[in-house]
Order: sequence, then structure tokens, then C-alpha cells
Amino acid sequence: MTALTLSTAAVSGLRADAIVVGVAKGAKGPVVAPGAEAVDQAYDGGLAGILETLGAAGAEGEVTKLPAPSGFKAPVVLAVGLGAVPEKDETFDAEILRRAAGAAARALAGAKKAAFALPAQDAADAGAVGEGALLGAYSFDAYKETARSGGKNAKNGKAPLAEAVLLGGKPRDKAYKAAVERAVAVAEELNRARDLINTPPNDLTPAAFAAVAQAAAKEHGIKVQVLDEKALEKGGYGGILGVGAGSAAAPRLVRLSYTSSKADKTLALVGKGITYDSGGISLKPAGHNETMKCDMSGAAAVFAAVVAAARLGLEVNVTGWLALAENMPSGSATRPGDVLRMYSGKTVEVLNTDAEGRLVLADALWRASEEKPDAIVDVATLTGAMVLALGNRIFGVMANDDAFRGAIVEAAEEVGEESWPMPLPEHLRKGMDSPTADIANMGERMGGGLVAGLFLREFIGEGITWAHLDIAGPAFNEQGPFGYTPKGGTGSAVRTLVRLAELTAAGDLG
Ligand code: BES
Ligand code: MN
Ligand code: ZN
Repeated sequence: MTALTLSTAAVSGLRADAIVVGVAKGAKGPVVAPGAEAVDQAYDGGLAGILETLGAAGAEGEVTKLPAPSGFKAPVVLAVGLGAVPEKDETFDAEILRRAAGAAARALAGAKKAAFALPAQDAADAGAVGEGALLGAYSFDAYKETARSGGKNAKNGKAPLAEAVLLGGKPRDKAYKAAVERAVAVAEELNRARDLINTPPNDLTPAAFAAVAQAAAKEHGIKVQVLDEKALEKGGYGGILGVGAGSAAAPRLVRLSYTSSKADKTLALVGKGITYDSGGISLKPAGHNETMKCDMSGAAAVFAAVVAAARLGLEVNVTGWLALAENMPSGSATRPGDVLRMYSGKTVEVLNTDAEGRLVLADALWRASEEKPDAIVDVATLTGAMVLALGNRIFGVMANDDAFRGAIVEAAEEVGEESWPMPLPEHLRKGMDSPTADIANMGERMGGGLVAGLFLREFIGEGITWAHLDIAGPAFNEQGPFGYTPKGGTGSAVRTLVRLAELTAAGDLG
């Protein structure tokens, strides 16, 4: 992982591969952003003019490299676009800084060390720049044989930026130190979630995922319990077992528990962990299954958030539930028409084996409910319908409490994640009525994301506040990288979950 430090060093004498500065889009051309004054002076105040000559406008995501002023120890200045100049008396949004730092770090792959002189006004801004740099520097090369044997032919041909130095902050200031520590913990765990998502499903089986969780739990003083297929059988987890029945790789339910002696609230997080979703007997056609290793992104987010909460010593109890199974067709697979007896005791007629996420979640949600947490939040790549509704960058939020749903959308926005509140319309419930069982796992096709939410609601214990995050759109980026978001696993919802844990600790949520 990229190292992150604060420095007060003078920019001219800094030994680095590049100095990163911000350039905004002004009414009459590019404008050099605050933080880069010393750099601009070294160009005799001509940096904006040079950038304009090079065709830079200051648009978001734009990256321009130029030779550093003479006398600088660093050879290169990298100007990253910040978009519009803020209104009078306003500063650049933290998310603008995060994305700019990410785009810069991405463009600096192959470099050892970069110094960031972006317009960070306070400790929170510095944290955003740091987080953006660490997230933007991410790359997944574990399966590039050439990368292991020396790095020459790794992705992009280059190793990720090794060290990011934040200029203009206060290294001795408590708030700055805390912001950097938070950025490092969140980004490292989020990047680990990305690694899990990107790991091919022949390697990341439910048992392998559980083993990773066990090792991390041990390292960070988190209690961990893994239910294997025998324990699941004994416990009556019909949903998780039913989904995993067709696979040679048996399912698991992992319980992670971080507790703080200063906590008086408990937040339960539940993640969908389908290590591969073939659709099962209701097999997905080619074109719809190539990226389905990403179907454990919810569990990866929950795992990352619990570890981050532990690393940050948040004053809240956080329990993470990872519902892990592989959805495969075989002679032992659950068939459309089968009825499963769920952990809650309810029976479910499986009409479509591709609606498997709700089945594993149902067991985990009921199990989580038994412990009577103050709130439950589940995260899942649950429906294609949510992708059709909100696109590839926004996750849907459903809840059994409107205020809680609103608080989650707000928390997501605070940390730079896009989400949107979605309803749970009562009239869609009857579409899941089954002639045979208590409920079917499928209902009306229209509003499929909401139908899935209504199904999950049936497995929440009485009186428990609950929200459901459908991250099917933003979990996996099949397009080009942007800002701090790479191709492949994105780590969607990790930052929102960490923020929810922080808000719960502060007594500001639920
Ligand atoms: N894992 C998929 C949903 C998904 C789709 C995630 C696209 C990421 C990208 C889920 O298990 C699924 O197959 N859902 C079905 C449900 C349907 C059969 C009721 C769907 O959305 O088509
Ligand atoms: Mn499916
Ligand atoms: Zn799925």
C-alpha cells in the first residue's frame, strides 16, 4: 500500500518524482488553485498561462504534466483539474479534492513519491486528499505473472505510487494526525475489499473468504465465528444452504464482532457474499455472468467496515455478518420449484434460483436480528433492476424507517458516495405470494429492486430499524477508471458504512 505522510517542507527542496497542484476552470481560462502559490511563484507567476498554452482548462479529471521550475528537486509538476472555481467565500468540495488526488495518483503509477499541494483548507480536506491518493493509487496485479517476477509488465506496466506526501498541513496538529490515520485505515481496508472483489472465484470460495476474515479478525482484535456447512445444517440455515447446494465449494456464515468498552450502541452490518453468481439452474446467459465474481461486494464492504471501525477504535459495537455461498447449477442444486425452510422458520418457494442474494441475506438478517442490535444495515449487489433505475454510480437505499433512510443517504454524501432513497411499496408484496410456501423469492418484474427489498423486510426482527443498500450498479466498474475509482471492484459502500459506525458512536444515528 501507498504510504501517506504530512510535511511542512518547502516545495522547491522536496525530493519527489512529482509535485501535484490543482487547476480550476475560471471564466477566462485555467486558474491555479490555492496551495500551489510557491510553485506558481517559481514559474514567475506564469503557471496558469503555461497550462493554458498546453491546452489545460481545469476540467475535473484533467491531468497535465509539465517540467518543474528550475531549482526544484522534483522534476515534474502535475496539474490536476478541479472543475469550476468555487463561489465567493466557498472552498473546493472535499469530494472534488478526493477525486483530483485520485486521478493524480493514478497518473503517477510507476513513480515512487509524489507531493500533493492541493487546496486543502483544513484537516478534513487533508484527509480527503490523502484518501483520494491512496484509493487512486490502487491496482490489482496479483494474477499478472510478470508483475510478480519484477513488475515490468504489471497492469499499466507500472507499480502503484509508493508514497504520497501532503503539503500545507500541520503534521503535529491532532486533527490533522487523526484525519491521516482515518484516511489510511479506511483506504487500506477499502482497497482490501477491492482485492477480494477482484480475486477470481476459483480462488475466492466461501471458505477462502472466511479464512481471510478470520486472519484479519485475529490481527485486529475482532471476535470471529465461522459456521461451516455442518454448523449451518445443524442451525437450520435453509437459505444459505439452499443457495450453496449446487456448488462444490460449501457455504459459510461469518460473524465478526468488534466491541468497544465505551460503546452503548450496536450496529449490525450484513453483507451478500455470493462468491460467484452463475444464476444456478436459472442459469444466466453469456454476457451476464462474466463479472459475477463481484457478487460478494456487499460482504467485502461489511468486512472492510468492521476492520476499519476496529482500527479506528470507534466507540460503538459493530457486528458484521458475511453470508457466503457460491450459486452454481448441478445435480445437487436447488431447483426452481423447491421450497426452502429458512433460519427464521418461514418457508420460501424458489421460483428463480438467480434470485439467490435475498435467500442468503434472509438467514443472516434473521440471525442478526436475534441479537437485537440498535440497527441493521445490509449491503448487496442484489438486483439488475436497481442498475436500470440508478445506473452504474449510484446505490439505492431502502428502509423500514424514512428518517433512517434519509440519514444514510446523507451519510453517504458526506463521504463522497452517491445514493438515492427508494420506496418499499406495499402493493408489490402480494406478487410474492406463493400457493405452496409462505413467500416466493420472486415477484413482479417491474420494480424488481423494490420487490427484493420487500422480501428482505420479511426477515427483520420485530421493532428493529433496518436499511438495505442495493449496490449492484456501483460495486463493479466495467468502464474506464475515473477519479479514485479503478476498473473492477470499487469498494462501494465501505465509506458509508464506516461513517454510519461513526455516527452511531456519536449518538447521531437512530
Ligand atoms: N447478482 C445479481 C444482481 C446483479 C446484476 C448484480 C447486475 C450486479 C450486476 C442477482 O443475484 C440477480 O441475479 N438478480 C436477479 C433477480 C431476478 C431473478 C428476480 C435480477 O436482477 O435479474
Ligand atoms: Mn443472481
Ligand atoms: Zn446475485
